Amino acid sequence: MNTQIAARSATTAAIVVCTPLDFGHLAMTIHRLRPLGEAQAQVSNCTTTGLRTQLAPPATRHYPHLHMNQDLWTSVDRFLTDTLIHPDQALDEAMRANRDAGLPAIDVAPNQGKLLHLVARIHKAKRILEVGTLGGYSTIWLARALPPDGKLVTLELNPTHAQVAAANINRAGLSSLVDIRVGPALESLASLHEEHAFPFDLIFLDADKPNNPVYLEWAIKLSRPGTVIIGDNVIRDGAILDPNSTDPVVSGTRTFVERLGTHPRLDATALQTVGSRGYDGFAIAIVNE
Ligand SMILES: C[S@@+](CC[C@H](N)C(=O)[O-])C[C@H]1O[C@@H](n2cnc3c(N)ncnc32)[C@H](O)[C@@H]1O
Repeated sequence: MNTQIAARSATTAAIVVCTPLDFGHLAMTIHRLRPLGEAQAQVSNCTTTGLRTQLAPPATRHYPHLHMNQDLWTSVDRFLTDTLIHPDQALDEAMRANRDAGLPAIDVAPNQGKLLHLVARIHKAKRILEVGTLGGYSTIWLARALPPDGKLVTLELNPTHAQVAAANINRAGLSSLVDIRVGPALESLASLHEEHAFPFDLIFLDADKPNNPVYLEWAIKLSRPGTVIIGDNVIRDGAILDPNSTDPVVSGTRTFVERLGTHPRLDATALQTVGSRGYDGFAIAIVNE
């Protein structure tokens, strides 16, 4: 069955036809229409709302030629999110509160947040550690996977971020499960160790990437055999390929991935991802005996 797409702008209009499954064609078509101005796309006989995000600006950082694919990735992410992730007042309000407070928009995407949530549930995690809270968006996804007697400890350097996160987590009804610790993560991790507040079943590393190799060491210290460790943003538009990078974010990420591969207590892999957050990826590891 063909799907008719009508795209309009203030100055012109166009009608194109494509099959419902041909999202690549569909994205290309809208991409071509973009120079027409603030084109609005409507789809008849098709439920996708992904077209709306065709109009979002691309965000690739290191390789400008990736620009041409960003619109497509964003559209597909939007389709996946609209289809698989249901409207959620607490998460939507958290995003709004983050924006209003001027927090950087560097939270995980909705489909990534749900992936974290599903991994935590599949793993039946009861104790979760997160390094890098921001406004608590990923915290909410993860905390929702916990049983009523579970606990999530999340570490945040910036007091303003932590304050916004606390309000978001409270609105989501999760305050009793979440402990936000404010300060440099390296200090908080040492405190958790001193307090014997471990082991954690799942650890999500998503703070300052230059410190990821050290966070990994702490994560292993705070783990048990079977603990899952996830690290975000390990591809960075492919910049991790550069062994001579002088960017501490890139070299820290590269060292992190290398240590995941060589540490005797870890089995790990990493996946490249594309989506609304550009070209990046995550690593996942399990702690052995
Ligand atoms: C990518 S954001 C976290 C996003 C969050 N996990 C989410 O998806 O909603 C990284 C956060 O780590 C925090 N951060 C940076 N350096 C830190 C440090 N040394 N210790 C603790 N937190 C740090 C930043 O302030 C920022 O809020």
